[in-house]
Amino acid sequence: MFGRPTPPDRRPPGASTFEDDIHLRMCARNGQEGLLLPSGRLALFLALVHWCRPGGRVLMAPVNDDVILFVVLAAGLRPVFAPVDPRRGSMLPDAVPEETWRTLGGVITTNLYGVPDPAPELRERCLRGGIPLIEDAAHALQSTVGGRPVGCHGDAAAFSLSKHAGARSGGYLAVRDTAHLPALRRAAETLLLPPRAHRQALLAALPVARDLVVRARLVRQAWQAKISLGLDPRGSAYRMPPRPDELRAALAAISAAHACAHAAVGPGNAAAQGGAGRGGAELRAAVAREALAAMDPWTRVDLADYRMRHGTLVRRGLSRRLAGAEAARSRRLDGVRRLLDHPAVAPGLRDHPPQPLFRVPLLVRDRDRLVSGLLKAGIATGYLYDPPLDDYAGPEFVDPSPAPEAARWFARHVLPVDPLEAARALAVLDRLGAQPAAPPTDAAPPIGAGQPTGAVPPTGTPVDTAVGTPDTARPRPAAAVPAPVAPHPEPTVRTEPTVASGG
Ligand SMILES: Cc1ncc(COP(=O)(O)O)c(C=O)c1O
Repeated sequence: MFGRPTPPDRRPPGASTFEDDIHLRMCARNGQEGLLLPSGRLALFLALVHWCRPGGRVLMAPVNDDVILFVVLAAGLRPVFAPVDPRRGSMLPDAVPEETWRTLGGVITTNLYGVPDPAPELRERCLRGGIPLIEDAAHALQSTVGGRPVGCHGDAAAFSLSKHAGARSGGYLAVRDTAHLPALRRAAETLLLPPRAHRQALLAALPVARDLVVRARLVRQAWQAKISLGLDPRGSAYRMPPRPDELRAALAAISAAHACAHAAVGPGNAAAQGGAGRGGAELRAAVAREALAAMDPWTRVDLADYRMRHGTLVRRGLSRRLAGAEAARSRRLDGVRRLLDHPAVAPGLRDHPPQPLFRVPLLVRDRDRLVSGLLKAGIATGYLYDPPLDDYAGPEFVDPSPAPEAARWFARHVLPVDPLEAARALAVLDRLGAQPAAPPTDAAPPIGAGQPTGAVPPTGTPVDTAVGTPDTARPRPAAAVPAPVAPHPEPTVRTEPTVASGG
């Protein structure tokens, strides 16, 4: 499932063209080759183990999916959290202390909801420090920054076909330098699990089922059924329970695997230290397999088949949905423009021309009440990352942001709206009396924050909702807020009624 598209005349008889179609579309977007994978998280994991030395510290933004935290930990890395801009939720490189920059072994962007992180500045800093920049472009399939598509600035970029394309699975790892592809391909081969017919059928059917649920206006009922059947371990919470004792044990197993590998080849061996040679790549792939197994309870949370090799049936769906995302681009952009007129839109979005974002972040008062009201009206919100990951995990497992308030404020107030549902969502929000959140008083960016230079890119999606998506609307009762692993001075607490508790 990897590599360069095969020209039609050299394709083996009967070979699937769907994979080639996806490669061609991704190449056309990025001008970069890459690997087609079963998920964005696997793409990110592969990039991290390939480019970052085990035990290294990687800078990332705290308003992000919890799965990504566990992917970083699985890669044997320590997450170091950066302050964020409360006007748009992006990472603020200039607000990271110089002494922290000096300790880093890599940077991962988030591009939350498609709003770009300042990749050109990050690239520059990474080049200066001699460390890799890995772009998480899962939300940013159609975003640009600095005049180029998100994903073209770093050493590698991980895409998720579950987002704009709404394919329920599928990932892509695009690389700047194709010389890395053979080693990445070998590493991926050792991590992929064989296809299972009934799971393939399920993966192919889920996006179709979701479309039917949306058309039948059964989103709320489907969401409630999913929760009551226990189909998502996060239940009605925004975050999965971190389970610190089990996490500690998993991290110990991962450290042990690294130590064994190191001992096996002897100290001083370049391969053991993460060298780029073939031996190093193979060794790291073996350790990676053990690490993924140890972290599986967290990384599989909403996509159990994130490592399963796709067959033709699933690939056909991926290729169709990717084409559908491209066809819906202008509709998506129209929706973004409408949402930009809402008084609660994240103000930083107005600094640049509109882009076909995955979601448009509004910053609202009583966010959870609105999430609940939208769900009652059949609109699932999803992609709520509250509390920020440093509060969620605690200092035992991560280095918290030196200025956490902006991220807390943003995570508490953000309401991501699907631009493809802009008209309906705006009507419901109007009825619910949505108001902009009061600006943060103590959450100003610590230092003059450079803003990314956005430009409207060349390339949209079918409907994406709660049902069967990797991340769904998760209104929750305040009591369900998972306690941070380590105590936090001001834990996020919500008091608004939710569907789960009140509806
Ligand atoms: C920011 C971000 N990155 C990466 C991923 C992983 O993508 P996938 O679900 O394809 O593994 C997600 C999933 O929701 C995400 O939200």
